[in-house]
Amino acid sequence: MIERELSIKYLEYFSALELPSSDRKLLESAIRAADGAYAKYSSFRVGAAVRMSNGEVVIGSNQENAAYPSGLCAERTALFYASARYPDESVEAIAVVAVDDNGVLTELTYPCGACRQVMAEYEMRAGRDMRVIVGSAGVVQVFTGVKSLMPFIFDNLA
Ligand code: THU
Repeated sequence: MIERELSIKYLEYFSALELPSSDRKLLESAIRAADGAYAKYSSFRVGAAVRMSNGEVVIGSNQENAAYPSGLCAERTALFYASARYPDESVEAIAVVAVDDNGVLTELTYPCGACRQVMAEYEMRAGRDMRVIVGSAGVVQVFTGVKSLMPFIFDNLA
């Protein structure tokens, strides 16, 4: 038996102003996207913005439903539309933020496991890593690929 250890690296910026401008613009798109959230049941509004390899930005927000599991996270709303709209492009980056019922940015909100699985599939499909930008009013974290957020991903595409 051997005990193994994993470590991950990510970038932490102390303000969105420090970000490379392409990341900052995507984060701003995600913040605007949260305006479109339909969060009747949780009052937790999430915005996501996806930048495709052709430079197009696709936004999404969480869409809830009285039958709770029928709702969808902001990330998957954006990613599924991005893939449907630009099936031949790859995802360069995704930015995610959440705001509370008063429109105030919350602490860092990381993509849920189901969204990470979907992100990982688009990475595998495109054969390239996806930059994941997770923002709050203060700190912004940047992960250079989904494997940093979800190692040992399920992959039956091989
Ligand atoms: N939610 C997202 O849209 N993205 C996340 O990364 C976490 C959670 C949504 C789902 C639900 O509408 C609300 O936030 C509360 O969980």
